[in-house]
Amino acid sequence: MKGDVVLTATDLTRHYHVDRGTFRTPAVLKALDGATFTLMKGRTLAVVGESGCGKSTLARLVTMIEKPTSGMLHIGGTDVTAADKATLMNLHKTVQIVFQDPYGSLNPRQKIGHALEEPLLVNTPMGKKERREAALNIINLVGLRPEHYERYPHMFSGGQRQRIAVARALMLNPHIVVLDEPVSALDVSIQAQILNLIARLQEQFDLAYLFISHDLSVVKHIADEVMVMYLGKPVESGSRDTLFAQPHHPYTRALLSATPVADPFRIKERIVLHGELPSPIAPPSGCTFHPRCPSMTDICREKAPETREIDGCRVACYHPKTY
Ligand SMILES: Nc1ncnc2c1ncn2[C@@H]1O[C@H](COP(=O)(O)OP(=O)(O)OP(=O)(O)O)[C@@H](O)[C@H]1O
Ligand SMILES: [Mg+2]
Repeated sequence: MKGDVVLTATDLTRHYHVDRGTFRTPAVLKALDGATFTLMKGRTLAVVGESGCGKSTLARLVTMIEKPTSGMLHIGGTDVTAADKATLMNLHKTVQIVFQDPYGSLNPRQKIGHALEEPLLVNTPMGKKERREAALNIINLVGLRPEHYERYPHMFSGGQRQRIAVARALMLNPHIVVLDEPVSALDVSIQAQILNLIARLQEQFDLAYLFISHDLSVVKHIADEVMVMYLGKPVESGSRDTLFAQPHHPYTRALLSATPVADPFRIKERIVLHGELPSPIAPPSGCTFHPRCPSMTDICREKAPETREIDGCRVACYHPKTY
């Protein structure tokens, strides 16, 4: 049923050991540092935040390309962190991913038809004829034509290639699709077409989407829920409507204030963030956003804020804006 929980992440973390040269001990880089969220059938959770805040790391954990350092991940009721190989193999089919650059993930010497059939060949007992039918069916579903079956990746436009990437992700009938910046590399006019396609397919197959983007105008168009990340941590999450209308966290407000709005009569506060995103190897003390935060006080420097609920949003801040 629409709205059923299909994935739960609890305090999910992923740390990397990074080399710092011969005589120094490796440093720990906290790429993801405690993400808690759920994905629901037929719904879209958008993940936003600056470059390097851990969005793709989260995508790799959810798609089980990498294991979390700690925390829990349940997919369809199964504890992924404790699952055996056979269970994981089955789970892999239910979660698929679409990347920003589909050209990188398509073999230039493989015809599109064969690229689409490959997941079926590897994972199902389907015969040649059935696989071809399934590929042609999906080609039609994503708005391409039967003759495209015989073509090679370089013969397509960027928008068409992204349609192929979406088609490939759907070959095994997944329940969850992770979309990592799926339209960022496309022209604005093409972006809308691909977003509409993605929305139509969600409706048709009741898919749960984890939609990663740094573009809030895209997120506003497609998300049901939004999670804002900063330096590997979610700082605010809630329904799209609440988050866009009443952002609580100073970071969310700064991101929104940098996004053009369609309503020229809305009085816009302009919050300019100073300084660069700090290194995740040596994050600031307390609330990691404090050096750039216009509302910072002493406590922010000393102790990381707990996540608490405000107006139905989960907010990690000592000084959230209230409405
Ligand atoms: N395998 C790895 N080893 C070491 N550090 C890594 C590894 N993968 C990612 N990182 C680091 O983790 C942090 C988060 O990276 P990630 O790719 O998840 O960010 P992102 O939010 O997807 O950024 P972007 O918007 O640029 O795609 C970065 O500081 C990155 O350098
Ligand atoms: Mg990324």
